Amino acid sequence: MTTLTLQPRPESPADPSVDHVIRAIVAGDSTAETCNTDLAEGPWNFDIRPGYGPGSSMGDVIPTGSPRQGELPQEYRDATDEELDARIIAAKATLGDRVVVLGHFYQREEVIRHADYVGDSFQLANAALEHPDAEAIVFCGVHFMAETADLLSQPRQAVILPNLAAGCSMADMADIDQVEECWEQLEDVYGDMDAVDGDGLVPVIPVTYMNSSAAIKGFVGRHGGIVCTSSNAQTVLEWAFERGRRVLFFPDQHLGRNTAKAMGVPLEQMPMWNPRKPLGGASVTEIEDARVILWHGFCSVHRRFTVEQIETARIEHLGVRVIVHPECPMAVVDAADEAGSTDYIRRAIEAATEPTTFAIGTEVNLVQRLAAANPQHEIFCLDPVVCPCSTMYRIHPGYLAWVLESLVAGAVVNRITVPADVADPARLALERMLAAKPPAAPASGWTNAS
Ligand code: 13P
Ligand code: SF4
Repeated sequence: MTTLTLQPRPESPADPSVDHVIRAIVAGDSTAETCNTDLAEGPWNFDIRPGYGPGSSMGDVIPTGSPRQGELPQEYRDATDEELDARIIAAKATLGDRVVVLGHFYQREEVIRHADYVGDSFQLANAALEHPDAEAIVFCGVHFMAETADLLSQPRQAVILPNLAAGCSMADMADIDQVEECWEQLEDVYGDMDAVDGDGLVPVIPVTYMNSSAAIKGFVGRHGGIVCTSSNAQTVLEWAFERGRRVLFFPDQHLGRNTAKAMGVPLEQMPMWNPRKPLGGASVTEIEDARVILWHGFCSVHRRFTVEQIETARIEHLGVRVIVHPECPMAVVDAADEAGSTDYIRRAIEAATEPTTFAIGTEVNLVQRLAAANPQHEIFCLDPVVCPCSTMYRIHPGYLAWVLESLVAGAVVNRITVPADVADPARLALERMLAAKPPAAPASGWTNAS
């Protein structure tokens, strides 16, 4: 039997800054709890160390050879918050239309306030596409997002990631060599991967979540597959099932399982592929009968959400509306009232006409910002421990000031470039996604019957 513990929630809500909450905790001015007090330090203290840094992914194993950030010049490490703000504003004013700053929903407030566009990974990929005249696109997000912006932008445009250590631990869980090896093993079971059966279907279509390296997107493009985001995963799976008997889905097992389950695919036809085991740890029969093969990847931010937290929220807040991101485990999605992408969550809150209590299962920076922007509602993060995405957190205003002032001085630092042999098939997989999504279709989410 599960024991429920009622825990204090972080004080907020009018202040959208998670950093302020963490600093208050470290200073002893708040009764809230954080997963790591090192979060109050500048991320440059972690740049030279291997690992994802403090925050939700700190226990994940980082691949050797992951990009590291060189030393941030001292002047940016020493600058006060106010100085950095003023320098960023001045550099942006000097650069004008030459630069576009994109900010993912999970970025810290101190960075978001300087972004020209704020959105989810799909919206920001489109924002990059729609600014062909800017010389530089500064992507305040994580590595795979900057790669995607490079794929969709013009060759003359430079895409800049302010801190090269801002990767994504989930994206890193699908390594291109492991994926190639998986494909070869599947070929041994299914035979010719290009052969169509009596229904006109090939044995398997690879589908990758946007949260994957360009190399994986390139693999998918070369093998007739497609990219999806959390806002169009169902549309993309429908596209794949029109062309293939099965889907190989990576890297996020939870998005794959939650989406396919909502479409009626039975759980027993969704074996997991663990790249460290022969045939992914499944039997030949399981692989033959599979409808969706799920790569053994997960997000350490969304894995923190639990059914117990939802039960606690329902006890403490009668009538609470629980919305979680589909990267959460299946039991959490099932226990919630609704599940949907970051933009779905934002729109659901903004569409509520009556004052409502929302418990949200996604990254805390977005939740706290939504709480501050919607004072008519009570909005809190399901996880009572303040534990932001470790890698999104690596972007600090000090790095943003550095890359912008470098541009003013004529230097492009931290450029992200996808090599042409990977870029062409990766772009194909992205273009299939853009074509598969009807332009006027709303971002998808699903509601659990009560
Ligand atoms: P979105 O696709 O909603 O932007 O989410 C990206 C992400 O990293 C979620 O963990
Ligand atoms: Fe990656 Fe999870 Fe962070 Fe998103 S929230 S960037 S999936 S680690």
